[in-house]
Amino acid sequence: MNQESLQKAFSTLPLERIAYFAQVVSTNDVAADWAKEGLKGPAIVVADEQTKGRGRAGRSWFTPPGSALALSLLLFPPSTLDYSQLGKASGLGALALCEGLEAGFGLRPEIKWPNDVLLDGKKVCGVLAEAHWRGEELQALILGIGINIAPPSVPPPEMLNFPATSLESALGSAVSRMEVLQSTVEHVLQWLPRLHELNFIQAWEARLAYRDQAIRLLDGQNEPLEGHLLGLRQDGSLEVSLASGEIRAFQAGEIQLRPLVDRGSN
Ligand code: BTN
Repeated sequence: MNQESLQKAFSTLPLERIAYFAQVVSTNDVAADWAKEGLKGPAIVVADEQTKGRGRAGRSWFTPPGSALALSLLLFPPSTLDYSQLGKASGLGALALCEGLEAGFGLRPEIKWPNDVLLDGKKVCGVLAEAHWRGEELQALILGIGINIAPPSVPPPEMLNFPATSLESALGSAVSRMEVLQSTVEHVLQWLPRLHELNFIQAWEARLAYRDQAIRLLDGQNEPLEGHLLGLRQDGSLEVSLASGEIRAFQAGEIQLRPLVDRGSN
């Protein structure tokens, strides 16, 4: 993959800018610079290696050269996406990857709410959605997507807080990074103007891991909450029936989700 092959692969899509880096600090940082420059998007930046890739909750994201896919999309948020629904941006990247893996490879990925993609119960992709504001105005959405393509992209055990795998390990064969990249970007752009539709929530919910199962919710401070995962609400929040009998919705960023019973993913 290089600048030329990337440009060729995306020649039919209405992208404002396409950039490829052999090495970069974080593709989300590049997209943030573009937003500051005034780019409206859609635009994409892809890197073979990130020296300081970022994950959610301040974690780092492992992107060694030659084996991972690290991309960020700079997106102009649709007017239908109001402030209270920004959590939907989290599901967008995960859903887009799932649809590509289903259509292209016949896989059955699941989404660990809000935005981790699992294969055989192990994480193969993470999404970091960042919003850029100018004063009160939402100026841009940056959707950073990291996909473990080949086995060396799976972080060492001491970096993991959840079991992980790679796409090639799950499939047992080599995978074209360009194919995964193209289908993910295409699905993101298809869904972007339709985030307000019930269809979007239904497509996300249909792939939810642990649905109707016992789960544990961690906020990093208090005792974990236990309950049953009911599904998604229209704003993309997670609806849970707690052990106390109370039914509550949680917003993305508020909690981490875990199965109560390990399904043997380790
Ligand atoms: C997570 O699961 O914690 C989210 C990981 C997001 C990683 C991607 S890789 C491309 C983009 N650039 C970054 O620095 N992070 C995101």
